[in-house]
Amino acid sequence: MNRVTTETPRFLRACRSQPVDRTPIWIMRQAGRYLPEYREIRKSHTLLEICRAPELACEVALQPLRRFDLDAAILFSDLLVPVAALGVDFDIVEKSGPVVGRPVRDREAVGSLKLSPDLRELECVFETVRLLRKAISVPLIGFAGAPFTVGSYLIEGGPSRDFRQTRLLMLREPEVFCDLMERLADLMIAYVSGQAAAGIQAVQIFDSWVGVLSPADYRRHVLRPTRRIFQAIAKLGIPSIHFGTGTAALLDHMAEAGGDVLGVDWRIPLGQVRARFPERAVQGNLDPQALFAPGEVLDRMIDEVLAEAAGAPGHIFNLGHGILPESPIENVTFMVEAVHSRTVRMD
Ligand code: CP3
Repeated sequence: MNRVTTETPRFLRACRSQPVDRTPIWIMRQAGRYLPEYREIRKSHTLLEICRAPELACEVALQPLRRFDLDAAILFSDLLVPVAALGVDFDIVEKSGPVVGRPVRDREAVGSLKLSPDLRELECVFETVRLLRKAISVPLIGFAGAPFTVGSYLIEGGPSRDFRQTRLLMLREPEVFCDLMERLADLMIAYVSGQAAAGIQAVQIFDSWVGVLSPADYRRHVLRPTRRIFQAIAKLGIPSIHFGTGTAALLDHMAEAGGDVLGVDWRIPLGQVRARFPERAVQGNLDPQALFAPGEVLDRMIDEVLAEAAGAPGHIFNLGHGILPESPIENVTFMVEAVHSRTVRMD
């Protein structure tokens, strides 16, 4: 009797902390440069071209599923794509990331953002979701950036190490910063709602760089707009994953903002996350560098993550952050097989 295929997929069950037959696994940035077939498409298209062409974006999202026995697909797009709906002009620069032509770091710039997002700019993303749903049998994860992380790109104008301009705006002009956060929350609510209408079955909110904030500043400046997004998602009826890096000191506040699943990086043991939030599922958290380690080290590190999760319901295996461009493909295959074969449960 094949119970598994007729039941809710194990990824969605794990999001709800329900028992699963094996631990589900997907990989942040699973579609990307470590795959030669992705690099082949990138020879003739920029990243933004791919994001805005539903057939190409769909093809790229399917590539990792053909190679590995993954338990979910993720929409292929980029963090900044939705800000086009506010009228922000940006580009994505190779090996560095999003760059915003005119940084949004004063009252005037924030005030000139479109108040109601132009959703026609995002129709290409919704179409990618529809195409993907037709093409795959595993659940499709949609995503959006959290206000802080997306706002940091708008304020800095590009990638940053210390997020100086972002924190300066927050401290010097808190009401302008707040206005930007609330507008981004409104945008992301519309964006995720559109993805849900098009068919996503779960959503990850990336607050990748929030770990730069103190708990007090998170509470004062970021918690409320972030919580609004999770409250809106809860009404959509799909599970949500709340992800950030370097968040050990922030997790209580991030959990308060929301998320059925807390996604963490390798700097906090999963056992600690479970002990602090027994009612939430957890996602993570193998160090992406482990894929470059000698076989026996990778093997041991996978076991350590599984042991921390302790076989209890509500663990989604993932890396602690995106897979790195040169990651050896045979080690990815090994990781996916190891996670499935070491977590078989008969009940
Ligand atoms: O996970 C997936 O497979 C879906 C695709 C995806 C991309 N970006 C494609 C992409 C997702 C979920 C993102 C989100 C994203 N984009 C985040 C949050 C996730 C995280 O890693 O924390 C962030 C911070 C960005 C901004 C961004 N875009 C950066 C920092 C970079 C990397 C610059 C580089 O070259 O290393 C990008 C570019 C980007 N987005 C690539 C991909 C596959 C790089 C490959 C390319 O240039 O083709």
